[in-house]
Amino acid sequence: MTNSLRAAPIGVFDSGVGGLSVLRALRAELPHEAFVYVADSGFAPYGERGDAHVVERSRIVVRGLRERYGIKLLVVACNTATAAAIHLLRAENADLPIVGVEPAIKPAVANSRTRRIGVMATRGTLNSAKFKLLLDTQRADADFVLQPCDGLAHAIERGDAPEIEALSRDYTLAMGRFGSEMGDIDTLVLGCTHYPFAGDLLQQLAGAQTRLVETGVPVAQHTRRLLAAADALQSDGQGGLLLHTSGNVAALRDAADRWLAPGLAVSSF
Ligand code: DGL
Repeated sequence: MTNSLRAAPIGVFDSGVGGLSVLRALRAELPHEAFVYVADSGFAPYGERGDAHVVERSRIVVRGLRERYGIKLLVVACNTATAAAIHLLRAENADLPIVGVEPAIKPAVANSRTRRIGVMATRGTLNSAKFKLLLDTQRADADFVLQPCDGLAHAIERGDAPEIEALSRDYTLAMGRFGSEMGDIDTLVLGCTHYPFAGDLLQQLAGAQTRLVETGVPVAQHTRRLLAAADALQSDGQGGLLLHTSGNVAALRDAADRWLAPGLAVSSF
């Protein structure tokens, strides 16, 4: 790969601020890379809107990232968009390496002693054929309690603390007992990239003995491996970050201040 292609940025997108949880892991794993992040907050949430909406928005965002930035790799930092659209994005962008995220079912099975695992995700992800196939590979080894969390990503998107608290409480209660006895849920998969931002609260509700599993770090490690295999890793330099949103600029700035670093520039997409 030529130097100019190696220096091209990595595109990352989500329906909103949730993908910042993946971006945080990517920046830690790949400090010399430049990133362009798009929060599609103007068209969020994806999880309750159906596949056609998610596919249309994913295509628009990817086209924009390619045309404006000539990205060398794309990370779909959204479980819902991965489930609904990644196969189409790959078919339509055959020359672009694309990394997706999916609920960390396999690491959860490896961790669980009670063999009872909770999965919190959007309705779109849980209803998708891709997720059902993934679950089928693990069903023999554990019981899964699947919890669609309508409204939770949207509440996190808005930073609405009372609503985040109420929904998190309702959904963890609905899943049944957490603990370390047989029949208890001892591992909780956060199957939406927004949920790590309610991670402390969910940990409190599920109890200290419950292990919360998310996907940021493994996705970042997989991205590094793909770049290395394509001879496209940046091995020096400061890296960089541009943040864009199709929604409210101040809201993404606030979220980035809290979860990434203070003072990052944000502009419209
Ligand atoms: N952050 C997204 C995910 O990982 C979706 C949230 C939403 O827009 O519903 O599924």
